[in-house]
Amino acid sequence: MDDTIIYRMDENLINEKEIEILGNGIREGKTVCFPTETVYGIGANALDENAVLKIFKAKGRPQDNPLIIHVCDKNIEKYVKEVPDIAKKLIDAFWPGPLTIILEKKDIIPLVTSAGLSTIGIRMPRNEIARKIIEKAKVPIAAPSANISGRPSATNIERCIEDLFGKVDYITGNSSSEIGLESTIIDVSVYPPVILRPGYITIEDLKKVDESIEIEKIEDIKNEKPKAPGMKYRHYAPKAIMKLYEGNTNEVEEDIKKDIMNLKMQGFKVGVLTFEDKKNSFDADVVYSLGDRKDIKSGINKLYETLRLFDDNKVEYILSENYEKSNETIAIINRLKKASLNEVMNIRRNDDNE
Ligand code: TXA
Ligand code: MG
Repeated sequence: MDDTIIYRMDENLINEKEIEILGNGIREGKTVCFPTETVYGIGANALDENAVLKIFKAKGRPQDNPLIIHVCDKNIEKYVKEVPDIAKKLIDAFWPGPLTIILEKKDIIPLVTSAGLSTIGIRMPRNEIARKIIEKAKVPIAAPSANISGRPSATNIERCIEDLFGKVDYITGNSSSEIGLESTIIDVSVYPPVILRPGYITIEDLKKVDESIEIEKIEDIKNEKPKAPGMKYRHYAPKAIMKLYEGNTNEVEEDIKKDIMNLKMQGFKVGVLTFEDKKNSFDADVVYSLGDRKDIKSGINKLYETLRLFDDNKVEYILSENYEKSNETIAIINRLKKASLNEVMNIRRNDDNE
C-alpha cells in the first residue's frame, strides 16, 4: 500500500467532505489513522474481521492483544450483553472522554476484535474528528494506538506518518493530542470493578463514582495471565535502552551524572530525561525536560513525543528521572516503567511485540 492518502485536519477546522470519505472508507473495510484526545488511533470497522486483521498487520501487533472499539454515542446495547449500573454511571460521568469500559460482548463483535475474549473494551472519544468519522462510518471503529507495536504511541500526525505511511489507507489529523496518554481501562465485567490500565482519569476520579473500584496489581502477577493482555508486552519503549532513577532528587542527580560519565567513556550516545529545574545540570549528548516536575499534565502531554525525539537523535541510553508517586502520577510512572522495562522483568528487550 504505497498510496496512503493524508488529510490534514484540525478539530476546529473539520473538512466534512473528507470526513465522509473516511467514514465510508471505514465501513468498506479500509484502515484510517485518526486523532483522539488521548493518542492517535489506527482504526477499522470493528464488525469486519478482515478489516480488523489489517490493523494487526499494519502495527505488527500480536493477535492475542484485543482492540478497543470506539463509538459515537452512549447507546452501546447493540454491542454488549448487559450494561450494569456501574457502567451506566461511569458512562454518564466520563463519556465522551478517556475512559475505556470492559463489558461482556455480543456476537456481533467478532472474536478477532476481542482477541478471542468474551469481553470487549469500549470508549466514546471526545475528539470531534474521531466522533464524526465514527458517525459517518455507522459502525464502531476498532482502534489501537497508531504506532508500530511496542513503540511510544503517536501523539501527532507526523508520528503516524513515520510509523504507518504505506501501511494504512488514510491518515488524518494534524496537531498534538489534547491529553497525550492512553485512556484509563476499567473492567466492569467483574466485581469489584478493576482498573486494568491507569490513564488520565485517576483512581480517585473513579472512586467518586463508585467506592468499590480497585486497581489491578498488574506488576504483582507473576504466573497468572494479565487481565489486559496488552500490558504483558514490551510497550511504549524508545529504541534506546532506558533507565529510570527513583528517590531523592539530589541523589538521583548524582547517580545520573555518574552513569553519564561511564556510558560516555564507553562511547555511547547518552540522553537524559529530566525536569525544568535540572535541565542544565547534565552533561549528556541530549537533554529533554518534561516541564515542571509538579505539572503532571504537561509531562503527560510531552512524554511520548519526547521519547521519540531521543530516537530521532539516535541516543543509545536514556537516563530518566521519575515523578514522585501520587494519585495523579500513577499513569505516567506506569508508562515510564514500561518504557524502561525495569519493572516487568519477564519482558526481553529483543521482543518486538507490544
Ligand atoms: O486511549 C486509548 O485507549 C487509545 C486510543 C486510540 O483510543 N487506544 C489504545 O489502544 O490505547 P491499545 O490497543 O494501544 O491498547 C488497548 C489495551 C491493551 O492493553 C489491551 O490488551 C487492552 O486495552 N484491552 C482491550 N480489550 C480488552 C479486554 N476485552 N479485556 C482486557 N483488556 C483489554
Ligand atoms: Mg498501544
